[in-house]
Amino acid sequence: MQQLIRGRVLGFHADPNDTQDNHRYLEDGAILVEDGRILAVGDYADLAREGLAEIDHRPHLVMPGFIDTHIHFPQLQVIASWGAQLLDWLNTYTFPEEARFRQQGHAPAMAEAFLDLLTDHGTTTAVAFCSVHKQSAEALFSAAHARNMAMVAGKVMMDRNAPPEVLDTPRQGYDDSKALIESWHGKGRQRYAITPRFAITSTPEQMEMAGTLAREHPDCHVQTHLSENRDEIDFTLSLYPQARDYLDIYESYGLLSDKLLLGHSIHLRPREIARMAETGSRAVFCPTSNLFLGSGLFDEAGLRAAGVVSGIATDVGGGTSYSMLQTLNEGYKILQLRGQKLTPLSAFHWITRGNALALGMADQIGTLEPGSMADLVVLDARATPAMALRMDRAETLEQELFILQIMGDDRSICQTYVAGKPMKKHS
Ligand code: GUN
Ligand code: ZN
Repeated sequence: MQQLIRGRVLGFHADPNDTQDNHRYLEDGAILVEDGRILAVGDYADLAREGLAEIDHRPHLVMPGFIDTHIHFPQLQVIASWGAQLLDWLNTYTFPEEARFRQQGHAPAMAEAFLDLLTDHGTTTAVAFCSVHKQSAEALFSAAHARNMAMVAGKVMMDRNAPPEVLDTPRQGYDDSKALIESWHGKGRQRYAITPRFAITSTPEQMEMAGTLAREHPDCHVQTHLSENRDEIDFTLSLYPQARDYLDIYESYGLLSDKLLLGHSIHLRPREIARMAETGSRAVFCPTSNLFLGSGLFDEAGLRAAGVVSGIATDVGGGTSYSMLQTLNEGYKILQLRGQKLTPLSAFHWITRGNALALGMADQIGTLEPGSMADLVVLDARATPAMALRMDRAETLEQELFILQIMGDDRSICQTYVAGKPMKKHS
């Protein structure tokens, strides 16, 4: 069945950092959707015809759904835990909470809540860390598959430096990951990410197993954490004394490639940046988390100049909001502190096409290209009285986007479509 989604339509076809001709905006535009995919985008007048089902979102903006490239599914009840930096925060709040996911019934209930939260905040694809327990990833994949929502996810592999309830072994971590890949990778829109949590919580034997999985499944993503916090880096290097630097640990197990997503990537040495660029390994900027945990200030311009591709993400529950708009808000401020700029066009490109490119999935998501999945978000820049007053002074699309970037959150999400299906009951 075909359906026409009408509104003020915005999509990106190039990176605003690279070229002026980067987006297409249609004041009275429409997206023609069939069987969950985009068939055509154009002026409403050109696409409308008798008998075609249509929904009119004017005066709101319709754009590709947001992509969150780093989030922790089992941290729904960790978000906003007080007063600690990374290692204390993990030990005090996070590992005990993740231990709950071994209980029967917990993960399936949380998976529904997690996906509701994502779409309520305009996010249509996420790259998620699950808990160490195989059933946490099972639950997330199964809930996302039922919604036809594209998830990239994996159970964390971790076999040391955490309580026993959240540890596996090198063999168990390998076997469970392998079984999950076989059941879920490529099933509908689900994709598996091999997920050694970070070097601190994996023995060399387990890192070896992660490397084996990556070699056996080169089309799976690999996700982990890199250089988030100074104490973390010191501890890591003490555990791997032969490593030249933090990245070298992952490199020595054969994990560097354009499928590798390195959460945080803040305190990097020049050699690490050069190797990330050479191997195509991605950095993932997590602004709300980096401020909340006091981790440090990501060097977006420095990495880009060196040729490193970066994603941007919430990192809930170290991150403090599910909203990619709030993520942009805090990201803007971090870049201000570094003397860098996050323009509104770059910002909205980043959370859509930019993140899709970082994932190598831009042929499916992140743009309005015909053939892409109809994962869409409908945005209201006047969602609150404060925004409406500010909008009265906005004269350009870029000003409107900047108001959304700074003041927006889930209240600005009027509707979220996943494969052409509206996810919000009351839009
Ligand atoms: N490093 C290892 N695990 C985690 C986690 O759960 N959150 C963050 N922010 N950093 C990590
Ligand atoms: Zn993380």
